[in-house]
Amino acid sequence: MNTKLVKISVNDSTEKYTEAACLLKDGQVVGIPTETVYGLAGNAYSEDAVKRIFEAKGRPQDNPLIVHISEFSELYELVSEVPETAKALADAFWPGPLTMILPKSDKVPLCVTAGLNTVAVRCPAHPIANKLIKVAGIPLAAPSANLSGKPSPTKAEHVYKDLNGRIPMVIDGGECEEGVESTVITLATPVPKLLRPGNITLKQLKSVLGEVSVDDAVLNPLKEGEKVSSPGMKYKHYSPDASVVVVKGSYDKFKEYVNLKFCDGTYAMVFKGEGEGISAPVLEYGSVDDYRQLSHALFDSLRYLDEIGAKRCFVRCPDEENDDNLAVLNRLLRAASFDVVNLDKKTLIGLTGKTGSGKSTVSALFKENGAYVIDGDVVARRVLVEDKTLLSKLENAFSGILNSDGALNRKALAAKAFSSPENTDKLNSIIHPAINDYIHNEVKQAFENYDVVVVDAAAIIESGFADECDFLLVAHAPFDVRKERILKRDSLSEEDALIRMNGQKDDNFYLSKADFIINNFPPYDLNEEFKKAEKFIYGGH
Ligand code: TXA
Ligand code: MG
Repeated sequence: MNTKLVKISVNDSTEKYTEAACLLKDGQVVGIPTETVYGLAGNAYSEDAVKRIFEAKGRPQDNPLIVHISEFSELYELVSEVPETAKALADAFWPGPLTMILPKSDKVPLCVTAGLNTVAVRCPAHPIANKLIKVAGIPLAAPSANLSGKPSPTKAEHVYKDLNGRIPMVIDGGECEEGVESTVITLATPVPKLLRPGNITLKQLKSVLGEVSVDDAVLNPLKEGEKVSSPGMKYKHYSPDASVVVVKGSYDKFKEYVNLKFCDGTYAMVFKGEGEGISAPVLEYGSVDDYRQLSHALFDSLRYLDEIGAKRCFVRCPDEENDDNLAVLNRLLRAASFDVVNLDKKTLIGLTGKTGSGKSTVSALFKENGAYVIDGDVVARRVLVEDKTLLSKLENAFSGILNSDGALNRKALAAKAFSSPENTDKLNSIIHPAINDYIHNEVKQAFENYDVVVVDAAAIIESGFADECDFLLVAHAPFDVRKERILKRDSLSEEDALIRMNGQKDDNFYLSKADFIINNFPPYDLNEEFKKAEKFIYGGH
């Protein structure tokens, strides 16, 4: 099949539309411009036409289509009821980039809605789309006119590239103004729910409807087996051939990160005015504070990456605090298959291990790599000197453990506290919360200057602090290896070494709670193990 490219201008007369209208009335499909993205249109009442749409795009059969109308009154034929909320939304935003989901009428074939009893309807503002619906005199089912999985087309040439030979005609009406697909909201739920963000923003929807909920799938990947509100959300989407990585964090951190990762075929997508100091070639996609500029350029930029043969592209992430950016964020996250690097993230790592496992060596490696390390032993010693409330609590519990000047008599405390397991538990229940308070404070201060804080503490599991850490790492080595190490290191007698070692909990207590185990014994190489731990924590990019 030859695909005809027909240019139509906004002021062209009705005759210009006749050929496309005839094809549509005949059950054929036509690529058409809308203000959001190009659509692949067909007669919504014709099962043949709908079948052709699915075939041309390679679209999964269970993903329903949006039906396009030219004015509000045409809605009544497509839905079984028109609630007040629909009237209010249409008043505010139609014609325009808003799709409403409502209970369908019997006239809408089930192949359009993929078997659902609701139908998605939109009244496009683009004068060419609008006029074509009028001239054809039928509602047009139209998904975005891309091959399924690819970024949506925002120019006629994009449609031509994807669907050349598969459809009879593409109408070239110039570049789409919005650049991302319409906002999709369902009114078929008790509280209206945003299913797909677009350039009619959440704020705008709320200004008309009051309460609007946001579907989880808007910004989160689907969990396995999860039921979706909108079938389109479960498919791979908007993906260029290049792999896209969304990078959160300041421009300085972005620059540093991209330069570190730079290799052949790497590109960077940045905000307007950025790009200086980045080794990779850059594409600007709009001002950081203008979501309409960003959405306008997004898909075009993603498609451009394929044109220039990019292998990988790091993309600056728009401000997540600003709901106006939801549409761009939603598309970017999917284009990246949720591959996100967060350079602003503060990571709290708990590190523990049995005596002789080498956890101090591991914490030294973290320090070398720029982390701030808190040593639990050092904190414990400080607390026992500085925290007068703690000392009086200990005196109350064990009596006779303070010197005449009020300082702690460590020997006396050890003698009493380790005299029985009950007393040891009592000591821990008093001392652990105090140490945790000190560590909390130090972590908070450290996060002002560091992105990664490591708390290295022998009793981090028992004290409960491990539960607050993002990751718990356990340094591990077998009994004999550890014994040899502490004999050498601490010049202990074998008997003392065994007492110390046997006073600790068994291996499984530590290993079963670890998020990651660092094997620190032959034949493992500690540096390699450390790199694996880093990859586990920071991701594998
Ligand atoms: O801007 C747009 O909406 C463009 C232009 C061409 O109008 N069209 C478009 O269609 O983006 P499409 O098919 O690419 O996306 C339609 C989305 C899909 O995610 C689909 O699952 C969802 O709308 N959808 C359609 N009918 C639905 C229904 N009854 N219930 C829930 N979701 C529905
Ligand atoms: Mg689509």
